[in-house]
Amino acid sequence: MKILIADDQAVSRKILSKMLDDLGQLDIFATAREALEAFEKAFEKSEPFQVMISDISMPGMNGIDLLKAVRAFETRKKIAKQNRVKVIMFTSYADKQTVISCYMAGCDDYAVKPFNRSVIIEKIRKLGFELNIDKAPQTEKTMSQMVSDAIEGFKNGKVELPALPNIVQELQNLVSRPNASASDMAKLIENDTAISIKLIVAANSPFYGGVEKTKDVKTAINRLGINATHSIVSSIANKGLYDTKNSSIKNLMDKVWMHSFATAHCAREIGKKVSSVGYEKAYVKGLIHDVGATLLIKNIGENITESSQLDINDLIASVFEVHASFGGALLNKWGFSKDFVDVASLHEWDKFDEKTEKEVLIVNLADKLSYKIGYGFFNKDVPEFSDMQSADLLGLTDSELTVICDKAAKTIAESADAFTKK
Ligand SMILES: [Fe+2]
Ligand SMILES: [Fe+2]
Repeated sequence: MKILIADDQAVSRKILSKMLDDLGQLDIFATAREALEAFEKAFEKSEPFQVMISDISMPGMNGIDLLKAVRAFETRKKIAKQNRVKVIMFTSYADKQTVISCYMAGCDDYAVKPFNRSVIIEKIRKLGFELNIDKAPQTEKTMSQMVSDAIEGFKNGKVELPALPNIVQELQNLVSRPNASASDMAKLIENDTAISIKLIVAANSPFYGGVEKTKDVKTAINRLGINATHSIVSSIANKGLYDTKNSSIKNLMDKVWMHSFATAHCAREIGKKVSSVGYEKAYVKGLIHDVGATLLIKNIGENITESSQLDINDLIASVFEVHASFGGALLNKWGFSKDFVDVASLHEWDKFDEKTEKEVLIVNLADKLSYKIGYGFFNKDVPEFSDMQSADLLGLTDSELTVICDKAAKTIAESADAFTKK
């Protein structure tokens, strides 16, 4: 059997090629355009594909466009219905509207990521193909299954969502008012004693500390200023999500925290460079862009009791697949505004256009830069500066990016202790 696969994510392509290796000939493409070209060529050579598996959200030509183009080609070539390629679409998150659009465009079946070998095999069989396969490679299936179980658990309420402290969003609302004052801010922060104490500790840390020790929230705010207080409190409030008592994932969670913290700093430096206002907002977005990965890793890691069962590389590869769309859905559920949801959903994309929101570009770029300066945690390839499309659209040159990286790296190294010391 010949199977055509289109997915823009390198990790997804790797997983699928390993997972479906024994089903037949797999032709795997990173863009819908290349997949379409291969599909048409195969037909012209009378070696058509029987099955197509495509991701839906891909930059540029997406999976639904690909599906439409394939069906249009088959109509032009007058291919009988029973001989048309069977198409299974993959979406990152169950969304009724997307599923409807897929069926309208002519797909035969659809599934929700993460990929699961037995689900794909079952679907291919249902579409009328006989498969002679021995046994399933186990690891991907198990870990992918755990990831999809975790997502399912969060969705149906069986796994309790940790609250991202309301204060993050309340502060966001407060600072976006033009007349936000230090005393309004103090009132808000003082509602949360734990955060108030941590703010005072951070304000007195070597990085932020003045000559005089600060003893109350208001003095801390006056000394730090509204913007810095906003960043510090958001960092403190977020930090709790990364804490775990489980020793087998503790290192990884610390890495995810440092990555988020580093992305926030890079986002702030980029924000300062491309706009004179509102860069603290970019900081907070950088801080929570990987919240989907954070909660999935934490949930799965903490539920695997035997540390021998836990393959960290396998875990992060499976989480990578879905973390962006899951993060977007989480923020949506938590009541964050659309700009936050977009940042979380789109931060792993590689291709954008002029219409993309600036903050999506900023956080996308900040994520890449944080990998460049050594604060990554997924095993992903990070492009050269010159190949970072978000940098290009933001109008940043290679030398400006180098300066941004240097500045961010310095602040990260100097200020991280203020949040990690208890
Ligand atoms: Fe990410
Ligand atoms: Fe990230």
